[in-house]
Amino acid sequence: MTVRIGIVGPGGMGRAHIARIENELAGGHVVAVTDIDPENAARVAEPLGATVYADDTALIEAEEVDAILVTSFGLAHEASVLKAIAAGKPVLCEKPLAPTADACVRIMEAEQAAGRKYVTVGFMRRFDRSYGEIKEVIDSGELGAPIIVHNRHRNPTVPESYTADMAINDTAIHEIDTMRWLLGEEITAVRVDKPKPTANRFPHLQDPLVVVMETESGAILYDEVFVNIQYGYDIRCEVVMESGTMALSDQNLTDRRDSEGARNKITRDHNERFHLAFNQELQQWIKAVEKGEHAGSSAWDGYAAAVVCDAGVKAIETGQTEPVVLIEKPTLYN
Ligand SMILES: NC(=O)c1ccc[n+]([C@@H]2O[C@H](COP(=O)([O-])OP(=O)(O)OC[C@H]3O[C@@H](n4cnc5c(N)ncnc54)[C@H](O)[C@@H]3O)[C@@H](O)[C@H]2O)c1
Repeated sequence: MTVRIGIVGPGGMGRAHIARIENELAGGHVVAVTDIDPENAARVAEPLGATVYADDTALIEAEEVDAILVTSFGLAHEASVLKAIAAGKPVLCEKPLAPTADACVRIMEAEQAAGRKYVTVGFMRRFDRSYGEIKEVIDSGELGAPIIVHNRHRNPTVPESYTADMAINDTAIHEIDTMRWLLGEEITAVRVDKPKPTANRFPHLQDPLVVVMETESGAILYDEVFVNIQYGYDIRCEVVMESGTMALSDQNLTDRRDSEGARNKITRDHNERFHLAFNQELQQWIKAVEKGEHAGSSAWDGYAAAVVCDAGVKAIETGQTEPVVLIEKPTLYN
């Protein structure tokens, strides 16, 4: 069976997902497209031979569509995801699931009423092989319990439209989800330290930030978020356990040595660095849809990340450690 996919909002991320579904992955085909920019929808649909729908409602309800990929702006996610649940169709929604915790609760309530998990959130780092190897060691317990994690999330640059809270909601959200998944526990408090800002970019941005999180067991997680570091997209993570450490290796596949010295390639963006992880994420989702199963992170993960983000944004303003208070986890997500 080929899973017939309808995409809502194929911008940069959506087009990258379409390319992988059509050229690299098995079992899926994009048959339907909608975008608030109809010209974009038509441009994307034409080479696929896909149908253009006037809006997400029409696309989600279309008989020819089995599953939905939501890659529109964060603010638009909730409406499309709720419509997919109402139509009984699995939906992979790019992060954030929704920009507020309340919206994520509404999505979880709809899923609980429907009685099954329809929603997968696009936290692709869970499918990255090197993070996976770190998780295997943590889960095995052979190096003891994780105590400290040092994360670095560095982007070459961001557009002027990037706002201070996006450092948490858009950027650190990846470490927030990855840390919850790696350590298998919830984050309980957040503080944000503000080093002196880089002179390289916009004065309205407090860049870099250091996000400091605590977990249920008392582990401390550091996340340097530096979105205008100029030199490349550099994602690092070192987990310090009781009797050893595990870290992501440099992201190069080869090391070059020549008369200039020894150096390696730094990736430029998320698509380059996490290409294989995105492929795995989408491939497992397509396979799960085929079998009527759920794959990847759930609406609960989208909710928990949103609550930590809210606390992080508040912590930027207050300069204090802000508590993260989650609702009781519904049994559907246990
Ligand atoms: N997983 C990752 O690492 C990663 C990386 C980049 C972006 N993203 C996420 O992907 C999503 C899209 O980001 P992007 O960079 O592709 O943005 P983008 O601006 O390039 O694309 C968004 C598209 O959605 C369309 N759109 C907006 N609202 C809509 C609506 N209500 N109905 C239909 N179409 C609508 C826009 O016209 C545009 O074509 C965001 O949620 C972003 O956070 C995730």
